Amino acid sequence: MAENLIIAQATDKTSRYQALVPQIESLISGEPDVVANLSNIAAALKQTMNFFWVGFYIVKNNELVLGPFQGPIACTRIGIGKGVCGTCWKEKRTIVVPNVDEFPGHIACSSDSKSEIVLPAFKNSEVALVLDVDSDKLNDFDETDARYLEQVMRMIERFI
Ligand code: SME
Repeated sequence: MAENLIIAQATDKTSRYQALVPQIESLISGEPDVVANLSNIAAALKQTMNFFWVGFYIVKNNELVLGPFQGPIACTRIGIGKGVCGTCWKEKRTIVVPNVDEFPGHIACSSDSKSEIVLPAFKNSEVALVLDVDSDKLNDFDETDARYLEQVMRMIERFI
């Protein structure tokens, strides 16, 4: 396991993701524990990308329950189809929200959150957890975030 994260100094997000993704690969390599791996992935994303909030909601007993995260405290349970996370779960797809105030049913854990991206990870073709990333800036997520974070979700599918 890598002990230190090398954080790319580049300001463009593509370069930072390109430096980060292989490090996440080595961070989780050989470690089967789900909580340990999700915790380190949340920390690595926060440290490298400086997201306002980044973390996981895990499907448990037909609800999304808060998992490892970095950032301010957050709501603990989300139903299917509720908010951005519950919609990602129901529709089984990545959702990019440029302005959370314009997303019907958005769940505001923090009034500082302005835009959001949520991605699913699958086990046996069902959503097992979602990665939720919030920004305090409007319109902060795009295809680049979706592309690299989806690579991270595919890595997560190997240990869940
Ligand atoms: N905004 C999310 C809820 C989780 S917090 O942002 C951490 C949603 O609408 O599902």
